Amino acid sequence: MQDSTVDTAFDHERVVLHHGRRSGLPVIAAVHSTTLGNAVGGARLWTYPHWRDGLTDALRLSAAMSLKNAAAGLAHGGGKAVIALPPGTVLSAERREAVLRDLGDLVDSLGGAFIVGEDVGMHAEDMLIVREQTPWADCLPTSVGGIGEPAEPTSVGVYAAIEATARQVFGTADLNGRRACVVGLGQVGQRLARRLAAAGAKLTVSDIDPARQAIAGELGADWTEPGQALFTETDLLVPAALGGILTPDTVPRLRCAAIVGPANNQLSDDAVADTLAERGVLWAPDFIVNAGGVIYGVEVSLDGISPEAALSDVRRIGDRLASVFTRAERDGVTPLATALADAIARLTDPTGNGAHAFPP
Ligand SMILES: NC(=O)c1ccc[n+]([C@@H]2O[C@H](COP(=O)([O-])OP(=O)(O)OC[C@H]3O[C@@H](n4cnc5c(N)ncnc54)[C@H](O)[C@@H]3O)[C@@H](O)[C@H]2O)c1
Repeated sequence: MQDSTVDTAFDHERVVLHHGRRSGLPVIAAVHSTTLGNAVGGARLWTYPHWRDGLTDALRLSAAMSLKNAAAGLAHGGGKAVIALPPGTVLSAERREAVLRDLGDLVDSLGGAFIVGEDVGMHAEDMLIVREQTPWADCLPTSVGGIGEPAEPTSVGVYAAIEATARQVFGTADLNGRRACVVGLGQVGQRLARRLAAAGAKLTVSDIDPARQAIAGELGADWTEPGQALFTETDLLVPAALGGILTPDTVPRLRCAAIVGPANNQLSDDAVADTLAERGVLWAPDFIVNAGGVIYGVEVSLDGISPEAALSDVRRIGDRLASVFTRAERDGVTPLATALADAIARLTDPTGNGAHAFPP
């Protein structure tokens, strides 16, 4: 599945597609913008029907990173890397290492315009290999003084966003007894499911990996098949798998009051935000909700801010989202329109926001 949304006009600064010298695999780096500073974003290691689908994903994800970083007030632009595995590829340990080195070389060739972290399909340990090829790699394991998996701060930010969304829709952030459905029990989804269960939410969970059903048992959650998960009757739908799931076809069948989750690029295109609003479903813009990992990574790794102070900034995602909801309601527009306007205002006025141009 590929992530979608974000305008498809070509407005990227630089896109490089390499045939990995060691691995023979397609490795892509997309630098969308360095207007606010050098681009930051993760690398995704995923199987695509065709490498062109991986390229499309890189283009859209990097553009979304520009919005995310701008809306979060970071002095960085947006970038994304994709390692596009052909269908049926099973990576041996040697080939995995080879493609990670290919990725490192590609990022290095950009000379610091893009600092790469990890995304879906990658782990902090992988970044150690990437780092051997380039200094422009982040999200190293905590064992070597890195920030580790960004999933932890991401989930802290998403949880603050879930509370803000509940307050907006139900008048209270108390999740005790509130129904929530988490779709995707990966690094972020699993953490959210645990936090929601601890808060007393009535949970439904799902994943395409049947082994994750054990987590449902552990948390006392209902399990639903992935094909049906989106249409679960629930208060809060929490998309925590891949993007492109909210489409003109799926939105009419939703049975939730609000949608708030970490998945990138949840809308198949921006017009779906209007359809959601017409149906009375509150959608929390994903690029506001899931910025916790990048905020934490930039502040701790690059800006030298303490982990505690960075986490407190991550929790402010709840306030930022509440402000988006309030202004959208006041102006009679969707939360997406308000969040986009915030991000674009920063991108078009970098000097007024303490941002610096690349190179810093
Ligand atoms: N990890 C982060 O810090 C971070 C930050 C920002 C955004 N995100 C986004 O959040 C989402 C989840 O990230 P993650 O790091 O947890 O990834 P992950 O790879 O650890 O987990 C994704 C999970 O989704 C499952 N999945 C895939 N397709 C599914 C489907 N159709 N139905 C149900 N489950 C499905 C996978 O089996 C896997 O368990 C992604 O869209 C990612 O881009 C993650």
